[in-house]
Amino acid sequence: MSHADDHVGTRRDFLYYATAGAGTVAAGAAAWTLVNQMNPSADVQALASIQVDVSGVTPGSQITVLFLGKPVFIRRRTPEEIEAGRAVDLNQLTDRDAQNPNLPAGQPATDQNRTLDDAGEWLVQIGVCTHLGCVPIGDGAGDFGGWFCPCHGSHYDTAGRIRRGPAPQNMHIPVASFINDTTILLG
Ligand code: FES
Repeated sequence: MSHADDHVGTRRDFLYYATAGAGTVAAGAAAWTLVNQMNPSADVQALASIQVDVSGVTPGSQITVLFLGKPVFIRRRTPEEIEAGRAVDLNQLTDRDAQNPNLPAGQPATDQNRTLDDAGEWLVQIGVCTHLGCVPIGDGAGDFGGWFCPCHGSHYDTAGRIRRGPAPQNMHIPVASFINDTTILLG
């Protein structure tokens, strides 16, 4: 196979998996939540921020919302997932950066630095593989109980940190915060 053919194949695979990933999300209609747009008269603000009602998200489940054209995974982790994430030695990590813009730059990728709340229940991350941009499969997928990207075999742990495979970085965390007990503001 020529290099060009190889490139075409890779590109095709990427498109297939990207489509498959989107299809999986779309098919899981129950997993989606309606997103409340902010004041529609504030055009720019509406594009830059959304509120997400997470009152129906139970431990061990997640929803996916579309934000700024990308899927965002909002997972409410189980005690076991939290414990597994916190037990990881940072020396085992491929990417030791928390990739969390809600913290000062360059913070270590501890489990605590990845989650939205101190208890570690809520993990909010952009659902895009940091290798070539596929949408990873979630709900305990992969060898580390978190997410798995089938495009080229990247495994993420329960804190969304890359643990095996070609992805160079942990899944990125968006700007996010709780504005009350059941509503997360993205952006
Ligand atoms: S896009 Fe290549 S492993 Fe995810």
